[in-house]
Amino acid sequence: MTVKLAVIPVAGRGTRLIPLTKSLPKEMLPVGRKPVVQYVVEELNRCGLQKLLFITGPTKIAIENHFDLDLELINHLRETGKEDLLNELAFEKADLQYFYTRQRRQLGLGHAILCAESFVGKEPFVAALGDTILGINEKAKIVERMIHVFEEKNADCVIAFEEVPEDEVHRYGIAAPKDLNDPNVFQLANIVEKPAPSEAPSHLAVASRYVFRAEIFDYLKITKPGKNNEIQLTDAIQAMIADGKKVYGVRVTPEEHRFDIGNFESYFSAFLEFALNDPDHGEEIRKKLQKFLK
Ligand code: G1P
Repeated sequence: MTVKLAVIPVAGRGTRLIPLTKSLPKEMLPVGRKPVVQYVVEELNRCGLQKLLFITGPTKIAIENHFDLDLELINHLRETGKEDLLNELAFEKADLQYFYTRQRRQLGLGHAILCAESFVGKEPFVAALGDTILGINEKAKIVERMIHVFEEKNADCVIAFEEVPEDEVHRYGIAAPKDLNDPNVFQLANIVEKPAPSEAPSHLAVASRYVFRAEIFDYLKITKPGKNNEIQLTDAIQAMIADGKKVYGVRVTPEEHRFDIGNFESYFSAFLEFALNDPDHGEEIRKKLQKFLK
């Protein structure tokens, strides 16, 4: 596989989740038993990525702590006869390299990706948003399929998409596919950032995973602030398409359904779904919920 590096933007302040996110990174919010970003890292590891560069910010230090090898805690568990808990820390030992750099000004997702340029160099890379879990069963392999399409089609960019209801298109980048002869892998004729429902070319919403060639940086450098006065990644991709570059979409499977931890409603429902599926406590939570709902 040609792509080994993933860039994980985690710099956004999570303003829609204040006060929860005042000092706690939204990527560290618990969903079921793990913080959001751990699911993202495990997904990337499953798809063969080895080097992870986080684009962080001042309130995000807990993310770096979370992925450190915590020998003190490991020793403490051993000394106090809690070896059974060591398994819960197995993720620390994954064969991954972690790197961190800061986005020093909040200028948008496109600008956050641009902060990776000198680290990435000329290599193709994956971008995976650190606040989005794909799939509840820890089996999502969309990034692996995207890299396959990237190589097979000699594409310039591949993006994950999920069909969303009409009243959600204004939250996402939306695809205009060239055609949907193959509904799971399609070339893009255009992409628009957070359109009004009446202007949305489809209901296919960007699902937080991308594969890029390093040339995306050239486009980002000349992208003017767009929606919400931010440098939008979607606008840079739109410019690539206008230049005749090959941009493809890959559709997530129902098992890879997106859990977007961006607002209270989506966060609460994600937590609830993970809790209901917990191997030890799911049944009990289900019973409790039924009682609350009476
Ligand atoms: C960003 C992108 C948007 C994408 C979304 C989820 O928006 O700009 O195109 O659909 O992530 O992948 P944000 O959620 O940062 O506002």
